[in-house]
Amino acid sequence: MKNVFIETYGCQMNEYDSELIRSILTKENYAFVKNEFDADIVMLNTCAIRENAHRKIYGRVHALKHARRDNPPKIGILGCMATNLRTDLLEDRNLNIDFIAGPDSYKRLPELIEQCYALDVETPHRGVSTDKPFDVTLSEFETYSDVIPARTDGVNSWLAIMRGCNNFCTFCVVPYTRGRERSRSTENIVEEVKLLAAQGFKQVTLLGQNVNSYRHEQNDFAKLLEAVASVDGIERIRFTSPHPKDFPDSLLQVMARNKKVCKHIHLPLQAGNDRVLDMMNRTYTQKEFLDLVVKIRTLMPTISLTTDIIVGFPTETDAEFEDTYRVMKEVEFDSAFMFKYSERKNTIASRKFPDDVSDEVKTERIVCLNELQKEISHKKNQEHIGQVHELLIEQEQSIHNPNFSVGRTDGNKIVTFPANHHKRNEFILTRITVATPHGLKGEVLKDSSS
Ligand code: 5AD
Ligand code: SF4
Repeated sequence: MKNVFIETYGCQMNEYDSELIRSILTKENYAFVKNEFDADIVMLNTCAIRENAHRKIYGRVHALKHARRDNPPKIGILGCMATNLRTDLLEDRNLNIDFIAGPDSYKRLPELIEQCYALDVETPHRGVSTDKPFDVTLSEFETYSDVIPARTDGVNSWLAIMRGCNNFCTFCVVPYTRGRERSRSTENIVEEVKLLAAQGFKQVTLLGQNVNSYRHEQNDFAKLLEAVASVDGIERIRFTSPHPKDFPDSLLQVMARNKKVCKHIHLPLQAGNDRVLDMMNRTYTQKEFLDLVVKIRTLMPTISLTTDIIVGFPTETDAEFEDTYRVMKEVEFDSAFMFKYSERKNTIASRKFPDDVSDEVKTERIVCLNELQKEISHKKNQEHIGQVHELLIEQEQSIHNPNFSVGRTDGNKIVTFPANHHKRNEFILTRITVATPHGLKGEVLKDSSS
């Protein structure tokens, strides 16, 4: 039996994929260990979305090689960097990776690992070579619908309902690293949700690179949400990440009338200027985005909205950036992830638009948005003071302060409250007493189960 250590970078889909990999390899008699020093095989499930994600992996491989120089493990690169940089990774003498598997090849991992060990026997003194086992083929069909992930979280359960993306936003590497959109059948998903409920999970987060473009036969995302919500035992349904183009009224209505569907939408704006949005191929205008926000808030006044922003997309001027600033000020997102544009290999933008906004300007813009967002987040959090929120408990003792427990509101806000033998995965009622830009504190009213 070989010991495996897996480290996961990037998005929730990667977290989920690591659970799939754990399940696939456990069946083949591999054991999972908690640190790299006990491992025969170390796998890095990587991200390629931005330059820093990418650099982190290179740094990590070098650190691993150094730490285990007397007894090197086999090192495998999985995930988006595997597909994006296949030949570069295989030929890099400094990295000297042992095997590579892209996001649609995880069922072949046992075979690829065996090939690694077989190569040692056949050609023990070979140098870096491109005959190392790899599979980065992208599939039009693979959804892993026949693999039940080995879930480790205990409170939230990830569930991929679709994979891949057909949108080709010009900055984004995902359509190249994860291939075309494909959805699992509604029956198959509902079966798995029933299993989750039977295992005691109260929350499921539906995942997809473009989750609300889910489509299987006659069923769209709205129908799927209703079907998932009909499963007894599941109390909270979340989803990420949606695209603003796929919010028909039917979906908003299902969200509004169904208590189980959490009132939080992560709605990536990316930019607030129409010319930049067009260059990004986002397929909506500033006005369409703002109209959607109004529609969402009219139907669901308590909804929390979060977003992703890219600053310094090629040719973005100061005036165009100010449109993004104005939209953020107008919408008042609860929180926002903000990124400097980072040119990614293979993307449309990397082929058509030189990365011509200086790093200095990108930094200025991001600092400016951060300041704005900090104020807005603080203000939005303060609005919760005095409100009563039901929390799903995630940590019985906060890692920062053991005297506090940590839970999450329906709107996806983290709340800390005095610890008093409360159990993970239980609901509790709290009243919010303190708000900072980053989170909330509350007092316990009563266990909602009691
Ligand atoms: N540069 C900067 N940010 C990017 N994102 C995706 N691709 C890039 C890129 N090339 C951001 C987008 C996306 C989030 C997951 O990452 O904002 O929504
Ligand atoms: Fe990338 Fe756009 Fe697809 Fe999101 S919708 S994964 S940003 S191409």
